[in-house]
Amino acid sequence: MRFASHINRLVAALLLAMSLALALPVASVLAGPPTPAKGRGEACVAPTDWMRRNHMSVLKHQRDDTVHEGLRTKQFSLKGCIDCHSVKGGDGKAVTVADPKHFCRTCHDYAAVRVDCFECHASRPGEAGKSAGVIAPGAEYADAAHGADIHGSDAAALSAYLKEAGR
Ligand code: HEC
Ligand code: HEC
Ligand code: HEC
Repeated sequence: MRFASHINRLVAALLLAMSLALALPVASVLAGPPTPAKGRGEACVAPTDWMRRNHMSVLKHQRDDTVHEGLRTKQFSLKGCIDCHSVKGGDGKAVTVADPKHFCRTCHDYAAVRVDCFECHASRPGEAGKSAGVIAPGAEYADAAHGADIHGSDAAALSAYLKEAGR
């Protein structure tokens, strides 16, 4: 038994090594490391390297602060990210998150991260967020949307439900 599982593991390791050796050169040609478009201006709202690693948690904290405590500090505003990090498409207009070139998607597609933020928030400058139509800004619906972990769920359906249920 022991011996057999040992062999199994060896075979598995060997297969993994072989598939990596085959896959790596292909992957690096097809989907090399993401190269996000440069942001507007000289600097990000925090050092670039720090932002790369920590934007997810500051956005979440910011969002919780705004929604739960009514704070509106500007440093990590999502609207700010979208304003400075807009990317122009073929028609000269800023692309929405439907386009793979969208700043936020460059890395997320690569890292297989899915964010639902743009189901409510505008994904390009000057566009009204859908939140105004779907849910009243600053209303308890926003609290419900942000308070609960709604990743991967249908936010529009959730807020429609909340509205219907009168909560
Ligand atoms: C169900 C709709 C909905 C979803 C989904 C949603 N938000 Fe919000 N968000 C709101 C509403 C409503 C407000 C409060 C009104 C406003 O300030 O725009 C808000 C406010 C914010 C704010 C403060 C205002 C600003 O522009 O800085 C941040 C930051 C934020 N959300 C981040 C996020 C992030 C990050 C995600 C995705 C992980 C997300 N939100 C997903 C509806 C939503
Ligand atoms: C005032 C304009 C401005 C605002 C607002 C801004 N950024 Fe930036 N951002 C930049 C610049 C400039 C860089 C640096 C680009 C470089 O170093 O090549 C940058 C870099 C980044 C990077 C690293 C990109 C890379 O090449 O790896 C990330 C991630 C990032 N920003 C996310 C955000 C997020 C999230 C927000 C909103 C909380 C935000 N930024 C707000 C201008 C801005
Ligand atoms: C430099 C690459 C890069 C860029 C550009 C980038 N992200 Fe991210 N983001 C990541 C990675 C990698 C993760 C996953 C981190 C993890 O899982 O620990 C992530 C995770 C997130 C999360 C948390 C997702 C979750 O399920 O918890 C949010 C929210 C987020 N990013 C928002 C944004 C927004 C908004 C933008 C555009 C303004 C943006 N990111 C641009 C690399 C990037």
